[in-house]
This record gives sequence, C-alpha cells and structure tokens, in this order.
Amino acid sequence: MKYLIANWKMNSIDIEEWFKGFNKFFREIKNDVEVIVCPSYVDIVKCSQQAPNLIMAAQDVSIHDDGPFTGQISALQLSRTSEQLKYCLLGHSEVRSKGDTNSLIRIKSKKLEAFKINSILCVGEDENVLNKGEREKFLLDQLDSYFQEGLCPKFIAYEPIWAIGTGIPADKKNIDEALKIISNFLKEKKQEKIPLLYGGSVSSKNVDEIMSSELLSGCLVGNASLDGEEFARIAKNFRRC
Ligand code: 13P
Repeated sequence: MKYLIANWKMNSIDIEEWFKGFNKFFREIKNDVEVIVCPSYVDIVKCSQQAPNLIMAAQDVSIHDDGPFTGQISALQLSRTSEQLKYCLLGHSEVRSKGDTNSLIRIKSKKLEAFKINSILCVGEDENVLNKGEREKFLLDQLDSYFQEGLCPKFIAYEPIWAIGTGIPADKKNIDEALKIISNFLKEKKQEKIPLLYGGSVSSKNVDEIMSSELLSGCLVGNASLDGEEFARIAKNFRRC
C-alpha cells in the first residue's frame, strides 16, 4: 500500500473546485494508493460531505480535554467532526516552531488515542542541524521521545525543514540517509511495519524520483496539494509499491 497525504495547512481552498480538479484523474489513481486529506478544522465536515469515501486527517489537536482554551480543538471535538476523520498530524515543524515540544506531542498523541484517532508523526531537521552533521542525533531524539510510554504512530513523515515550501525537495541521498536512520530505530523497537513518508516540495514533476527511495511508502504534500488536479496527478504517478 502507498499513502498520499494532502496538508492544506491554513490555505483557503474552494472545496468544490478542488474536487472538480481532483476527480478529473480520480479513476486513474490505483487501488493501492490511499489518499488522505488534512483540511483546516473548519473544512473537515464540508470536505467529508464532498467526498464520502475519502479519509481525513486533522492538522493538530489540543493537549486539553475540554474547557476554557480559546482557539483550541480537543480530540473529542475532532472525533465528532466526521466518521471519515481517522488521523491527525503531530509534530509538524510549523507547529513545533510555535512551541510544540516532544512532551506536548506525547500528550496530544494520548488524547487522540482515547478517541481512536491515529497519529501521523512528523520529524525533520533544519539546515543548521544538517550542516553541523547532527541530523542522526536530532531525529533519534524526536523519535525516542515519542516512543516512550508505549506510544506508536500510524505513520512517520520525514519532513526536512530546509526543503519545506522551497520548491526544491531533498535529494535522494539525503532522503535515503534519513529514512535509514528512522527505519533502524524502528527495527530496534520492533515497529518496522510503520510506513515512512517524505514531505518537502513534492510535486507531480518530482514524485517519481522521490518515490524511488526503497524505504518510502508515501508522501505528505503541502503546496502542490492545494490544486486538486495537481494533487491527483501526483497520486496517479505513484508507481512504487
Ligand atoms: P510543501 O510541499 O509545501 O513543501 O510542504 C510540505 C509540508 O510541510 C507537508 O506537511
């Protein structure tokens, strides 16, 4: 199985237009590609109604259960949005940069588990860490911290911060090296079945090259997922099993 996830972030999407574009190629997407969309909270319901067979993911969740937390959304509230909502991103670098620590990510993961929402754990280093040759230690810290207390994500997405939103994805050598670090870690934890994803400037033009990485099971797509037609083109081009 391969997995293709659209992360719309805070971009405003005309959902009907998006699905018009996406549906142009829908039939050409192979059965072994699972497509997941992460709309903003306010679009989860509309998106689910528009595509009753599509799986949804949220972009974040509160560490709190209920109460006076202005602007936040609880795991319970997420679970009530749509039966199609199965996953939630955790640890995206754009959320980490606003103060999400490894321990907060663990709390969020437990809140989601209570409502049977699975975590998509994002990890990835910035340019500074990469240049200093400290990537392995950095990734292992992020992973090790998450896997404490018996937690286990449904997916792990390697998203190097230096490739996100630049239009230039990480090269195959860098992707392979990072995936190897993650997969060795998972082997040690006897969790090698967790699918690994890559995110950072994926488009229909470069997805073939990216998916040639042997350890990769899919992609997490930002900018190129904002256009339904382009996103469906990426799904259509998913070759490797
Ligand atoms: P881009 O595809 O825009 O680089 O974003 C990647 C990302 O952050 C997905 O979560």
